Amino acid sequence: MENEKTPTATTTMEKIVSLAKRRGFIFQSSEIYGGLNSCWDYGPLGVELKNNVKRAWWRRMVQARDDMVGQDASILMHPRVWEASGHLEGFTDPLVDCKQCRQRFRADHITTDTCPECGGELTEPRNFNLMFKTFMGPVEDQAAVVYLRPETAQGIFVNFNNILTTTRKRLPFGVAQIGKSFRNEITPGNFTFRTREFEQMEIEYFVKPGTDEEHFHKWVEVRYNWYKELGINPDRLRLRPHEPEELAHYAKACIDIEYYFPMGWSELEGIANRTDYDLKRHAEYSGSKLEYFDQESNEHYVPYVVEPSAGADRATLAFLVDAYHEEPDKDEVRVVLRFHPELAPVKVAVLPLSRKEPLTAMAKEISQELRRHWNTEYDDAKSIGRRYRRQDEIGTPFCVTVDFQSPEDQAVTVRERDTMAQVRLPVAELVPYLREKLGC
Ligand code: GAP
Repeated sequence: MENEKTPTATTTMEKIVSLAKRRGFIFQSSEIYGGLNSCWDYGPLGVELKNNVKRAWWRRMVQARDDMVGQDASILMHPRVWEASGHLEGFTDPLVDCKQCRQRFRADHITTDTCPECGGELTEPRNFNLMFKTFMGPVEDQAAVVYLRPETAQGIFVNFNNILTTTRKRLPFGVAQIGKSFRNEITPGNFTFRTREFEQMEIEYFVKPGTDEEHFHKWVEVRYNWYKELGINPDRLRLRPHEPEELAHYAKACIDIEYYFPMGWSELEGIANRTDYDLKRHAEYSGSKLEYFDQESNEHYVPYVVEPSAGADRATLAFLVDAYHEEPDKDEVRVVLRFHPELAPVKVAVLPLSRKEPLTAMAKEISQELRRHWNTEYDDAKSIGRRYRRQDEIGTPFCVTVDFQSPEDQAVTVRERDTMAQVRLPVAELVPYLREKLGC
C-alpha cells in the first residue's frame, strides 16, 4: 500500500464519455430536453456493470463475513435525524457570488479575490447547505420539510437498536447499505465522479472503544484490496490521510483511497473513524439509549464506529477508466475494456459466421444455454472482425464463434478478449470451460 507513485494515464475523460454513450453504458439524463446538469442514466451495459460492482461489494463485504449484516433504509428520514447528525448545521460549503457575471464559486476553490471568470467583484462568503429539501404531505405550506439524505450512514445509526436486538450480534460487527444519496453540489463534474444524485456503498462497523484505531487500519487494508482484487491497477491507487483541518465534523481520523482518474488523483472512497459521535448524538436527540452491553466486561458503553464509505458510481467510473486500453492493430486501433470477469457486463458473446441455417439454429441454442449461466449476447451482424471489435470495446471476456464446420463436429471456437487466443472446443465442454475461466 505505497503512497507515492507516478502513474500513467491510459485515457482521457472525453474518450470515456464518448465510449460510454456510443456503447450504451451511460447517457446524459433527460438528453432529449437538453440534459439535466450532473445527472446521468445508466444504459443497458452500464446498469449491468454498476450492478456487478455493487454485487461484488455486497458479496465480499457482507455475505462472505460473519461479522456483517445488511439493511436498506428509506431515503426520507425524520428531520431531527439531520439536526442530530450535524448536517443541518455543518454540511455546508462556503460560497461566493460574482456581482458582475452572477457565477457562483466555492470560496475554498478559488485563489483570487476577484471572479476567476470575468474579474468582477465577489460577495462575502456565505454558507450554503448541500442538502436537498422537499415537502412531505399534500399541502406545501403545512407540510413538514424533509430532506433527501446526503449519506446512507444515518439510516444505519438510527437502526442500531433494531439490528442489535434482532441479530444478537456481538462487537465488533458492521452494518452495510447500498443506496442513493443526494447533495446539491456546487461544483459537480468530471462525468459521474461528482453528481447531485449518486449511490453510496457504506459500512458502519461498531467496535469497542479503544480498539477503534486497530479496526480503522484493518478496514483501510480490506477496502484497498477490494479494488485491487477486482482488477484496478495498484499503480493508480494510493492512500491519503486527511489533515486535521479537512476532517469532517464527526471524524477523529480519515484516510481516502484515491484513484488516478484522468483529471488526476481524486477520492474514490473514505474510511473514517467516527468515534461515538453519531450514536451519542442520536441518543441525545431521540431520547433512546443507543448502547451495547458487553457481557465479558459486564458494562454498558457506546461503541465507536469505523466507516468505510464508497461511491458506487465513482467506483464504477474507476473500473471503467482502469479497464480502458488502446492497442495498435494492423492499421487501426483496438479499443478493449479489460474488465475483471466478475465485473464485465456481458460475459460471453455468441457469433455465428453466417445468418443461414443450420448455423443460426445451432448458435441460438448455444446462446440460450449460456444465458442460463451468464449475461450473454447474440450478434450476427457484419463481419466477424467487426463483431470481435465490438465485444472488445464493451469488455466481453469470451466470444464463441459458430462456423460452417460446427454443425458437423459439434465444436466451436472460443476467443479470449485480452490475448485474442482461440481454442476449439466441443459444445458439451463450453459451460465448464467458461465457468473455470470466468471464475464466476
Ligand atoms: N458517510 C460518509 C460520507 O458520506 P463522503 O466522503 O462525503 O463520506 C463517501 O462520501 C463517498 O461517496 C465518496 O468517497 C464518493 O465515493 C461518494 N460520493 C460523495 N459525494 C459524491 C458525489 N457528489 N457524487 C458521486 N459520488 C459521491
